[in-house]
Amino acid sequence: MKEQAAKRMEELTNIINKANYEYYVLSNPTITDQEFDKYLRELEQLEAENPELASLTSPTKRVGGEVIDKFKKIKHKLPMLSLPDVFNEEEIIAFDERIRKSGFSPEYVCELKIDGLSGSFHYENGKITTGATRGDGIIGEDITHNVKTIKSIPLTLKDKLEIEVRGEIFMGKNTLEKLNEQRKKENLPLLQNCRNAASGSIRQLDSKIAAKRNLDTWIYHLPNPEDYGIQTHYESLQFMKHLGFKVNPESRLVKDIDGILKFIEEYNEKRPLLSYDIDGVVIKVNDLEMQQKLGFTSKYPKWAIAYKFPAEEVLTKLTDIIFTVGRTGRITPNAVLEPVIVMGSTVKRATLHNEDYVIEKDLKIGDIVSIRKAGDVIPEVVEAKKERRTGEEKDFTMIKNCPICDSVLEKKPGQVDHYCMNKLCPARHIESLIHFCERKAMNIEGLGERMIEDFFNLGFIKKISDIYHLENHKKDLQELEGYGKKSIENLLEAIENSKKNSLEKLLFGLGIEGIGDKTALLLAKKYKTLDQLESQSIEELTKIKDIGSILAKNIHEFFLNIDNIELIHTLKELKLNMNYLGPEEKENEWITGKRFVVTGTISFMSREEIEALIENYGGFASGSVSKKTDIVIVGEKPGSKAEKAQELGIEIWDEEKWKSVYENIS
Ligand code: IVH
Repeated sequence: MKEQAAKRMEELTNIINKANYEYYVLSNPTITDQEFDKYLRELEQLEAENPELASLTSPTKRVGGEVIDKFKKIKHKLPMLSLPDVFNEEEIIAFDERIRKSGFSPEYVCELKIDGLSGSFHYENGKITTGATRGDGIIGEDITHNVKTIKSIPLTLKDKLEIEVRGEIFMGKNTLEKLNEQRKKENLPLLQNCRNAASGSIRQLDSKIAAKRNLDTWIYHLPNPEDYGIQTHYESLQFMKHLGFKVNPESRLVKDIDGILKFIEEYNEKRPLLSYDIDGVVIKVNDLEMQQKLGFTSKYPKWAIAYKFPAEEVLTKLTDIIFTVGRTGRITPNAVLEPVIVMGSTVKRATLHNEDYVIEKDLKIGDIVSIRKAGDVIPEVVEAKKERRTGEEKDFTMIKNCPICDSVLEKKPGQVDHYCMNKLCPARHIESLIHFCERKAMNIEGLGERMIEDFFNLGFIKKISDIYHLENHKKDLQELEGYGKKSIENLLEAIENSKKNSLEKLLFGLGIEGIGDKTALLLAKKYKTLDQLESQSIEELTKIKDIGSILAKNIHEFFLNIDNIELIHTLKELKLNMNYLGPEEKENEWITGKRFVVTGTISFMSREEIEALIENYGGFASGSVSKKTDIVIVGEKPGSKAEKAQELGIEIWDEEKWKSVYENIS
């Protein structure tokens, strides 16, 4: 009986995997959706009856179901590098010339630069084992539960290999559009672009949500081609395609610079017609031996570059300049624009940063201005088209009083920003509440900007601690127009859950001036509890690398302020966690507590990556050799630092020694 079930389950798995491959990778289905569903249901049924036979890589996992409580870390076998950006023809020619000067006559592969996030996918015995994000390039996050839901990722390969491949996880333009239509109906904030949407979806703890997001992949990199007897990058693409991966058919082998330029021109034009977002073209040396000989700089491979398309600029009218008040009281002028679509999303506002910025750009209200997306995401006003002025435009004048509470604004000497100094200004309050609930802070899902404003105006939330008293107003909230019963329940649950957050999230959420999420993490790791942090003197705090005297003073003063003391006391009573719960600082006998200097090129890792790793393991990385230095890591073509280390009799590690330490790091 069992044998029969196992046999049928294997048969069904093969049928479903094949159908899936034909549909999602080849875009060439051979069975109907109804047939597919029938097979899938039969397999689900058999798995339910014979759970011991259900495989971890069964296609039934595609719908998700696994929920994790946090992302595990995964160390990449080889660092996941990024590429140097170039922006024009001259820089591409310079890249080619540099390679030719090294004595090579390269052919290149041109590929589309997909706008998503890179992922690494591992297989053992032809079956998927893990999927990871790039992370900091050395350590990524384990996203296996979500990767298994991506239909174009094969769960089983054509050959029973052990292999790692890398590529881009992305969301198609249509998928984003549909998702945003749905979100609009549910009154949820819209996702800005395909990249953000993909990255948010793959970082879901609940794989059912990720499964619904219809993520997709293009695979473009094989880290260990020599293991499979492959000699060129183009061959590696063919090989990965043969194994069942989705490999972009637009990739092209070209002979020379003309071929590269033609490819770029062609796809600059075709770009709007593609069903996924690209932001440039990647150019890679085809010959793998040549790649190896070219090696790496301290940051990137020397055999590839990323040409970025120029950011799209669009003209529109600057209809007004309005002012907003941030949580520190800082006033920001904002451009109000006639709505215009830039790179797929509507832009109505753009920050103008401060008074000097507006004056420097000589903007007048009524001007025709050009807009572009800086870093493709944040809209920015590039310039006013002065030749289009009619004489009707109005001059910009900086306001003297707070737009919300009317207090007189102050500008500190030497600074560019104006501040509302009224600590009771409602705008400051709302902004600090919004900040507290943000993803990087307490991450209270559902409690977004609009809801906070509503609750503030209705008197439900006046200060941070009121968030944790919302439970007492459950009935009133559920009766409010526009807030369903269920959504309030979810919100209260999210608020309750946020009490368990690790210290750094609370610390960042409290909004101490100058303390970003990274510094908050640094402090939480160092002092472990809020009590410990509170009792540090300014001198003590400045001993921490990256904390200067101003930050130290801000932290110290924050905890002396009576309002803050009261707030923390209330939050403690409300049972908010005030301890660091993250992973312990990792230790390594070779690294922890030692002072390192890295010089020269290590072939498999950049200097930045080595330094990050050292710091991750509680070592110190410095730029210059002194008597205090414990170890100098010396790569190829080292500078005078290596000589100095020798003079001072400091321990020197060569590439091989570093490699063995690196490989032993757990
Ligand atoms: S190759 C060592 N190829 O662009 C080679 N990257 O700036 C590693 N990307 O981090 C990358 N399309 O996320 C490569 N066809 C492509 C790509 C691509 C998009 C992304 C990738 C990478 C970044 C590099």
